[in-house]
Amino acid sequence: MDRKTGIDLGTSRLRVCVKGRGIVYDEPSAAAFGADGELFAHGDAAARMIGRTPPDLSAVRPLSGGVISNFENCVSLLTAVFSKLGLRGVISRPKIAVSVPNGITEVECNAFENVCVASSGGRDVMMLIKQPMAAAVGCGVDVLGTRGRLICDIGGGNTQTSVILYKGIVASGMVRIGGDQLDDAIVRYMKDSYNIAIGRQTAEKIKLAAGSAHTVTERGEYDVSGRNIFTGQVVRTVIRSAETREAMSEVLERIVEHIKSVLEKIPPELSADVYEGGLTLCGGTALLPGIDMLLRERLGMEVNVTKDPARAVIRGTETILGSAGELLEVVSAGDEFI
Ligand SMILES: Nc1ncnc2c1ncn2[C@@H]1O[C@H](COP(=O)(O)OP(=O)(O)OP(=O)(O)O)[C@@H](O)[C@H]1O
Ligand SMILES: [Mg+2]
Repeated sequence: MDRKTGIDLGTSRLRVCVKGRGIVYDEPSAAAFGADGELFAHGDAAARMIGRTPPDLSAVRPLSGGVISNFENCVSLLTAVFSKLGLRGVISRPKIAVSVPNGITEVECNAFENVCVASSGGRDVMMLIKQPMAAAVGCGVDVLGTRGRLICDIGGGNTQTSVILYKGIVASGMVRIGGDQLDDAIVRYMKDSYNIAIGRQTAEKIKLAAGSAHTVTERGEYDVSGRNIFTGQVVRTVIRSAETREAMSEVLERIVEHIKSVLEKIPPELSADVYEGGLTLCGGTALLPGIDMLLRERLGMEVNVTKDPARAVIRGTETILGSAGELLEVVSAGDEFI
């Protein structure tokens, strides 16, 4: 039985959909390996082990900045997930559509394709979908319409901003900045302001619990435990929501500048449509409280966070898999899909 399978292999999370079955997997892009190099955990279980494995074991994230940073680990992860989902093997051969960031190099793009082929048992039937197109479809943006629509996907390791107009992307840009860089900024802040060393996982917890991008979305405090960088002792402190804003401000500013740089590329005839339509925001980092207000103020246009923004790309991929004709034709990044 052939199964049409869609994949969003993101820096933070791996999401898989199967035509007719919906989203069947949504867990961290993480894999844990034993001393023999064999994978023994993936997804949530592996993510829990990052930064806390004994010396002979390792737990890793095989993507960084939106692209594959460790090919073999990625193949191991995806192979395990395909097996778990019953998508690997002679009888159930998946036909795979994988979404790729727009603006990556050919080598980086090929890595996505090769990982999928290797993981699914050597099948070569592939479609590469441009992520902004999948995101737009997942956000309900009319990709066949004739009015330019602006969409921004702020993920874990990259931010992609695109203007979509009748069957194509007319302006776009990508920066390798996302939620990971916000976490790193919180790590730096704790070190510089409190002399406390924390890991990225703890920084992410702070961001999720107390993070705020705008004064209007002030949140509570968060109790942090970490190691004093001078004494080595474990110490506790409290970080306020306003401090997360201070910590993240520079990275958020770079995201603003990136979106502005894409707006500058819009053909003049389209500008009015784009400004009128506003910005559709998706990706997990779109859930950061106040990010929509910050962008609204800094860009001078309406900003709407789409429903369930982190799943926009995989939702769109699922819709594309279930569609025929024009939609399939416009989203394909080139390769044929049967
Ligand atoms: N409620 C929230 N507040 C702030 N950030 C959040 C929230 N929920 C998720 N995130 C962040 O969203 C990011 C993950 O987003 P997403 O799932 O879109 O990434 P991804 O698709 O795996 O990565 P990429 O597309 O960059 O390769 C993480 O950095 C995570 O911390
Ligand atoms: Mg993504």
